[in-house]
Amino acid sequence: MEFSVKSGNPEKQRSACVVVGIFEPRRLSAAADKIDSATNGYLSSLLRRGDLEGKLGQTLLLHNVPETLAERILLVGCGREREIGDSQYRKIIASTATTLNETGSMEATCYLTELSVKGRNTHWKLRQAVEISHDTLYRFDSLKSKKEDTRRPLRKLIFTVPRRSDLSIGEQAIREGAAISKGVTLAKDLGNLPGNICTPNYLAKQAKTLDRDYKSIKVTVHEKTAMEKMGMGALLAVAKGSREAPKFIIIEYNHGKKKQKPICFVGKGITFDSGGISLKPSPAMDEMKYDMCGAASVFGALVACAELELAMNVIGIVPCAENKPDGNATNPGDIVTSMSGQTIEILNTDAEGRLVLCDALTYCEKFNPEKVIDIATLTGACVIALGNHATGVMGNHNPLIHDILNAGKSSADRAWGLPLWEEYQDQLKSNFADIPNIAGREAGTITAACFLSRFTKKYHWAHLDIAGTAWKSGTEKGATGRPVPLLTQYLIDYVTELAKK
Ligand code: BES
Ligand code: MN
Ligand code: ZN
Repeated sequence: MEFSVKSGNPEKQRSACVVVGIFEPRRLSAAADKIDSATNGYLSSLLRRGDLEGKLGQTLLLHNVPETLAERILLVGCGREREIGDSQYRKIIASTATTLNETGSMEATCYLTELSVKGRNTHWKLRQAVEISHDTLYRFDSLKSKKEDTRRPLRKLIFTVPRRSDLSIGEQAIREGAAISKGVTLAKDLGNLPGNICTPNYLAKQAKTLDRDYKSIKVTVHEKTAMEKMGMGALLAVAKGSREAPKFIIIEYNHGKKKQKPICFVGKGITFDSGGISLKPSPAMDEMKYDMCGAASVFGALVACAELELAMNVIGIVPCAENKPDGNATNPGDIVTSMSGQTIEILNTDAEGRLVLCDALTYCEKFNPEKVIDIATLTGACVIALGNHATGVMGNHNPLIHDILNAGKSSADRAWGLPLWEEYQDQLKSNFADIPNIAGREAGTITAACFLSRFTKKYHWAHLDIAGTAWKSGTEKGATGRPVPLLTQYLIDYVTELAKK
């Protein structure tokens, strides 16, 4: 899909389709009004007859409207003019993309980016429009033998800005939107692949292709023997019950000053989580193929970062394993020594995410990181607490948490903070080892973060629990690519601050 930006009058566009908004009840947007004047009231007479109320997401496609140069005009319902916020705007653009794709306009000029959206500027509206269009038209059909091809799919979308002086803002917005969408699409593809294809080895191979595709990216894969040498006993305890070998992937993006400390992203890469000997119940267990979505988001964010050529250093650290109940699997009660030297009593083999992450977090120290952010589908409790709308955020450094929450707000990929108070640490007690890997039912998302906090004392760290946001269940089952937009926004904000110093 190709995007561009332009400014000019809607009635004068020579296009396969011109897209304008209609507010509820039956009111013309500024662009619709211009077409109406040029066509002697063609649109207002349609509205008077009751063809379109203007409800959010409604559409009406018109052909060969007299006195216009476009083949089609698509009217899109925008709801009440004063009520357009982020989620309304999202619906408006999504319904536009779907309709255009299904009705044969391979190219279109869209005036909806000129609507006013509460608290949002031109840059935001254009970038979101690119991201939402990609998101809406995404399909994962590479494993279907018969594909449902769209006969004349949408190929080119031109978004308009009100003034010529806004063109360069629009172009930068499209550039960011395209880079983020590329990262999101990669994260979705990896997430949607089943566990028998997307193994730790597969992820390692995919990482290598990033090394090939981007000059700024270097990838190293550590094998099991190297993990043994480094003393990653916690990670290895998870991999033990599987026939798939674990992989420890390092993705280095270097495009900052040599001495510039890196930002580290650590992604949970459990390619399938059966629970291990603490086996999960069968319903919806297939969704545990998504347990590597943290890893996928690290891949995606690094791709977006490389596409944007951000002037900084970023390192992705991705511990990958499969959690299975083989004859050699870890038993509940087993005690292992992590790379940090702390011993862990594995009371529940289904709390495996924190085990692979803790060794990766210790490994991080060697990069002398500026900040470390881990991303993981860590706890079912987070889905209960926040549902599918917000990623859970915890950490040991308030300014970092603050920056993450802000990046979530501005990228419309929202996160919400949970407390990581000392009192919660008391729940983590073992009679036989330094720490247990579980801490009872209460505040499960927070105690999981408490466990991680025992391994992150040497740097500023935040943890993103994406169990609720990384994929959708039900009829719309599929990876969302979240939180690639949030992570990329965090990096964009970070380089912007760097430049000011
Ligand atoms: N990957 C799961 C968390 C999960 C479960 C995410 C369901 C999304 C939906 C994680 O490895 C896990 O199994 N966590 C356990 C922890 C418990 C044993 C302390 C959980 O949440 O039940
Ligand atoms: Mn688990
Ligand atoms: Zn898991």
